[in-house]
Amino acid sequence: MVATKLIAFVAFVMLITLLEQIKSGVHAGRMTKAKRGGRVKVIHTGPRVRKLKKKVEELKKKLASMEPCEPCESAKTEGFLFDSHTMTDYLEVEVEGLNKRFDELTSCTWVKFKYPSLFSEIVVCALGYQFCFGRRSDKLYMEMGGAYSTFNGFVRFNEWTNYCVTMDIDGWEVYVNGTRKKSFLDQGVSVIFKEGKMVYGQKYADSYGSSFNPQRSFVGEMAGINFWDRKLSDAEISEMSKSCKSGKGNIFSMVDLKVMGGVKKIPASC
Ligand SMILES: *[C@@H]1O[C@H](CO)[C@@H](O)[C@H](O)[C@H]1NC(C)=O
Repeated sequence: MVATKLIAFVAFVMLITLLEQIKSGVHAGRMTKAKRGGRVKVIHTGPRVRKLKKKVEELKKKLASMEPCEPCESAKTEGFLFDSHTMTDYLEVEVEGLNKRFDELTSCTWVKFKYPSLFSEIVVCALGYQFCFGRRSDKLYMEMGGAYSTFNGFVRFNEWTNYCVTMDIDGWEVYVNGTRKKSFLDQGVSVIFKEGKMVYGQKYADSYGSSFNPQRSFVGEMAGINFWDRKLSDAEISEMSKSCKSGKGNIFSMVDLKVMGGVKKIPASC
């Protein structure tokens, strides 16, 4: 009677141990006969495990032979699709390099707006509104240190456009498809990006970045996102406007973007 109870108890402990191991993913191999005390020994053999080990070795070799810049090369061929008007879809950047005072900068993005029916959309916005860029109706929209401007033209729907914004000691400038279109003279300007944070496809609802403004969500495609801590020359910007796969920002680029919500990576078609 006692012996039967003991056997039942040991079997119970074995079952629990096995379940725990399966849950924690330890149990990847073949199970041998249980030892006393209900312990389960896992032997990593069997064709499946050998196959996995071989695969790991192959991947290790592949990794070692890769060029150091492989991720940025593949990121260049990617674009992002924002296919619904929602506050949960965006790209976030939080990089060490943004945590400083900028006396010069260049921000470039390829954009394809989709719906003229949306009144206002933000392409990129820094926490604290030191810099936001987007459109309002059929006008481009620029926010610089809390002040904003809109200007006519340069908004097309369902067509790729390259937008670059630069800033240096003389002020801000906007380039469309590689050509300078608008200057905002503002001597001695410099910016500090709050918490070193920026968001693509949304506008922060307040200066704490606790939520987004639902009226400003972007719908369409973006690609070739790059940011520099210097003002690029007209020639450099013009050159980059020929392909969204050229250029790489020294502060951040496509590889530094965190994809949030339902934003999808798609092949860059610009
Ligand atoms: C930018 O250039 C592309 C390709 O030529 C064109 O389709 C698009 O309409 C241009 N965008 C603007 C705002 O002119």
